[in-house]
Amino acid sequence: MKKSEKFINFKKIITSDGSPTLYSINVNEYYKSKHGALTESNYVFVNNGLEFWKKKNNKSKCRIFEMGFGLGYNAYSTLVSKSINNMKIEYNTIDAFPVEFGVIESLNFDNYIQNKTYYKLFLKLHSTPWGLKFDFNSSFSFLKIKSKIENYNFRNKYDVIFYDPFGYRVQPQLWSNDILLPLLNSLNPNGVFVTYSSKGSVKRIIESSGLSIEKLNGPPGKREMLRGYKSNREIL
Ligand SMILES: C[S@@+](CC[C@H](N)C(=O)[O-])C[C@H]1O[C@@H](n2cnc3c(N)ncnc32)[C@H](O)[C@@H]1O
Repeated sequence: MKKSEKFINFKKIITSDGSPTLYSINVNEYYKSKHGALTESNYVFVNNGLEFWKKKNNKSKCRIFEMGFGLGYNAYSTLVSKSINNMKIEYNTIDAFPVEFGVIESLNFDNYIQNKTYYKLFLKLHSTPWGLKFDFNSSFSFLKIKSKIENYNFRNKYDVIFYDPFGYRVQPQLWSNDILLPLLNSLNPNGVFVTYSSKGSVKRIIESSGLSIEKLNGPPGKREMLRGYKSNREIL
C-alpha cells in the first residue's frame, strides 16, 4: 500500500500505528493524528473520556456527544470497545461536512483492522442515514446530526463529550466561548469533556464553565490533552 494517496480534496496517509487518516487539502489539516489515528481515538476519547466517566459514575447508561464525526474513528472505537459491555450507550455525533462514502471506502480501513465483522460495523456507521437513530445492538444506539455546531440547539443533556473538531489553527471559531459554553452547559453532573487540545484559552473556557480541569499526557505526537470534569460539588 502507498504511504500517501491523493483524492480530489484529500490525501490518504498511513499513520504511525498503521491506521489510515485523511489530510484535507481545503482545510489544510488532518482528520486524525498522523502519529497514530486510531490510537488517538482510543487514548483521548475512549480511555480518558468514556472509561474515566465509568470510574466516576456507577451507571450503565451513558449519553455521548461527539463534535465532528469525520472518519468515524471515535464512534468506531467506542462501538467495538470492551468498555461498553453491559452498558447502554447513546452516541450522538454532529458533522456539517460529511466525508463521502466512496472516500471512506477508499481508506481501505479493512487492511488495518483485518476483521470483516468490525469492518462492516465501521462502514455501517457511515452508511446509516443522517438524522435517524440506528440501534447497532442493545448496547449502542447511534445518531448522526448533519448541522453546523454553531446552529445546533443543545436540548439534551450528555454524560461524555468528545470534542474533536479541526485544530485552532484552521478553525479558531470552534474553540471559542460561543461554541464551547452551550456544549459544556449540556453536561450532566459527573459529566466528562475530553479533547486532544491543550490550548490555554480552551482550558480557561472549560474552567470558566465550572468544570475542574486536568492536563493529561497527550496521545503519540502530542505532549498534553485536556479533560474537564463536572463534579457534583461544583454544580451545587
Ligand atoms: C477532526 S475531524 C473529526 C474526526 C472524527 N472525530 C473521527 O473520529 O474521525 C473534524 C470534523 O468536523 C467537521 N466540521 C468542521 N466544521 C464544522 C462545523 N462548523 N460544525 C460541525 N462539524 C464541523 C468536519 O467536517 C470534520 O469531519
